Amino acid sequence: MRKKIVAGNWKMNNDKQETTTLITALKAKGAFNGVEVKIAPTAIHLSQAVTELNDSAIEVIGQNMHQATNGAYTGEVSVGMLQSIGVKSVILGHSERRAYFNETDEALAEKVKTAVAHDMEVIFCFGEELEDRKADNHFAVVENQLRKALFDLDSADWKYIVLAYEPVWAIGTGETASPEQAQEMHAFIRNLVEEGFGAEIAENVAILYGGSVKPANAQEIFSKSDVDGGLIGGAALNADDFFAIVQSI
Ligand code: 13P
Repeated sequence: MRKKIVAGNWKMNNDKQETTTLITALKAKGAFNGVEVKIAPTAIHLSQAVTELNDSAIEVIGQNMHQATNGAYTGEVSVGMLQSIGVKSVILGHSERRAYFNETDEALAEKVKTAVAHDMEVIFCFGEELEDRKADNHFAVVENQLRKALFDLDSADWKYIVLAYEPVWAIGTGETASPEQAQEMHAFIRNLVEEGFGAEIAENVAILYGGSVKPANAQEIFSKSDVDGGLIGGAALNADDFFAIVQSI
């Protein structure tokens, strides 16, 4: 059985007090019915979040990390730094990192390699832009992103990989991929992983959908057979909405 995962990407939101307030509200929500629930506060609040959630099933994850293990990289965070405060999973390749911070497929391949070499789970994000979809190029774009960043991995590394398909046109726009569009792409992705790494790895890799997931649309999206959960942005900043999404699986 594949894992079911709902992860909240808080992006650059919530100060120290707001982080505590949201965590307190999430902790009050109770059981998650076998769903792995994760939250990704900003880097300077990770340590605080780990402490505040130490008696909770909610896992704290990073939003990003550098590919080097240490050195002169002002402003960056390493895999060892994350692990030293109890963070075991990190989002890599988010479209905002690609678009605003020039993260290339090559750099992302290095980041993924560093993470898995240190037993760090990776939630690897990818997805096409609106022009790609309009030009009917979305499958080729996604295939290219996956091949460049993940297809040099060893089969054994795939136990650390979670995939997150996030069509850029659906992020923060209120527009979601239809459940059918999500399923079509997720099935394509799983098939690609099967071609590269075999049926067992493909069957076991969790593929999350991200892009304007809300309580009102989560159930329909999660009902699709190749959608194993969600990566949630805006709706993850509200405990009631996030919990409602978790319960939609
Ligand atoms: P929204 O849910 O706000 O569209 O953001 C999705 C996302 O980018 C999660 O990483």
